[in-house]
Order: sequence, then C-alpha cells, then structure tokens
Amino acid sequence: MRKIVILFGPPGIGKGTIGKILSEKWSMPLVSTGDLLRENVKNKTVIGMKADQYMKKGELVPDSIVFEALVERINQNDALKGILMDGFPRNISQAQMFENILSQGDTVFLLNLVASDNVLIDRLSLRRICKNCGAIYHLKNLPPKREGICDICGGQLIQREDDKPDVILRRLEVFRNETKPLLDYYSTRHKVLTVCADDNPDSILKRIEGLQLWA
Ligand code: AP5
Repeated sequence: MRKIVILFGPPGIGKGTIGKILSEKWSMPLVSTGDLLRENVKNKTVIGMKADQYMKKGELVPDSIVFEALVERINQNDALKGILMDGFPRNISQAQMFENILSQGDTVFLLNLVASDNVLIDRLSLRRICKNCGAIYHLKNLPPKREGICDICGGQLIQREDDKPDVILRRLEVFRNETKPLLDYYSTRHKVLTVCADDNPDSILKRIEGLQLWA
C-alpha cells in the first residue's frame, strides 16, 4: 500500500520548491520527471539525447521515453511506501499508464497548485538552478548568498534553457492544452485538492498541511 501525492500545476508554480520541503517533512522521495530527464541530458544517455530536442522547445517528451526514465526510479526501495510525483503524469495516456502500475489499496491525492500567469512568468524568468546539485534559486525571492554561486555545494548557477521567454510561453500553452485536462480525469477517480500558490512558500505549506492529508 503506497501513498502517492501528485504535485500538479503549471511550469513555475513551485512544484520543485514545495516538493523538496514536503519530501523531507513526509519522508517520501520527490520524483521529478523533469529532473530525471535533465540528468539524462547532462549525462548524454540515449534517453537524454532523445529528450533534449523536445525539452529545449518546451514540448512534452514522448511518453515512451518518459516511462523509461521513470519506471526504474519508482521501483527503487525508497519509493515503496510513498512517492511525491513532480511533473508526472502530464497527459491522459501517462495517467492511464500510471493507474496500471498502482496496486489496490494505494492512496492517491492530487494537489492542484494554482497561480496567475504573471506570477509564473516572473518565477520562471528569474529562476536559476545549480549546474551541479540542481538546487533552485530565484534572483528576487530566493537569491543565493553569493551571486551566481550555489549556497549548498558552491556550484555555478545557470538559467535553464527552457526558461527563455518564448519557451516559457510555449510551456504554459502546452500545460493548458495537454496537462490541465487531467484535472477532470483525476476528479472522477481520486481526491483532488486545490491550493492557492501565489504567495510565499511558508504560506503555501501551511495551506497544504491544513488539508491534513494523512489524518
Ligand atoms: P519540468 O522540469 O517538470 O518543468 P515544469 O513542470 O515546467 O516545472 P518547473 O520545473 O519549470 O517549475 P516548478 O513548478 O517545479 O517550479 P520551481 O519550484 O522550480 O519539465 C521540464 C520539461 O521536461 C518539460 O517541458 C518537458 O519537455 C519535459 N518533461 C518533464 N516531465 C515530463 C512528462 N511527464 N512528460 C513529458 N515531458 C516531460 O519554482 C520556479 C521558480 O519560482 C524558482 O526560481 C523558485 O525559487 C521560485 N518560487 C517557487 N515557489 C515560490 C513561491 N512560493 N514564492 C516565490 N518564489 C517561488
């Protein structure tokens, strides 16, 4: 019996930021398909070389490539009791695939994080990530102590290639057209809980904790 929380929301809503904190609080691994794919791109694996061309343009990577990166991860020991999913599923066929690998008795919640496009564009365009450990910063909201340097590992901070203005707009469009329809799919099958995510992480966390998911 597994507890599965799907962190759902558009690019820049804070899935990675909030997910990391929840992962520590709830002792559940955060499994991000975006991070898995980026790791493959960085290591120039076959998966990475296939995924890169889609990610650069802000398009969804074909399901078969995503599954290959994901399945191995969610079968690891630390994911047997629970998983926080970030960035998956992203369309109906991925959701169906995910249903097929759930066991009877698994509990699934979808946390639907929402904010306006203006907030998302601001967060994405000023985001920087550590090239080395992947830690997430924001030039205004969560700046590093030393400019351009990761507080955690001293690595170089870079802008994600898909955080360029035209790609951000395309990613928001892909979310609206391909991913958002999943809300209807999930609301007929599992519990969907909507959380306003337009202010600081502490307030968002309080709202999530107020839902008492594990009560
Ligand atoms: P992915 O990595 O999943 O990106 P995404 O969903 O577009 O989300 P982001 O990582 O951009 O944002 P986030 O919500 O995690 O926000 P963050 O916490 O970083 O996917 C990238 C690409 O990979 C896709 O386009 C696709 O090509 C491919 N892909 C991945 N999964 C796939 C799948 N399942 N199927 C097919 N293709 C797939 O926060 C953003 C910024 O805001 C940061 O700077 C942060 O510091 C700041 N911030 C966060 N929260 C707050 C807050 N509350 N207040 C102020 N600032 C905040």
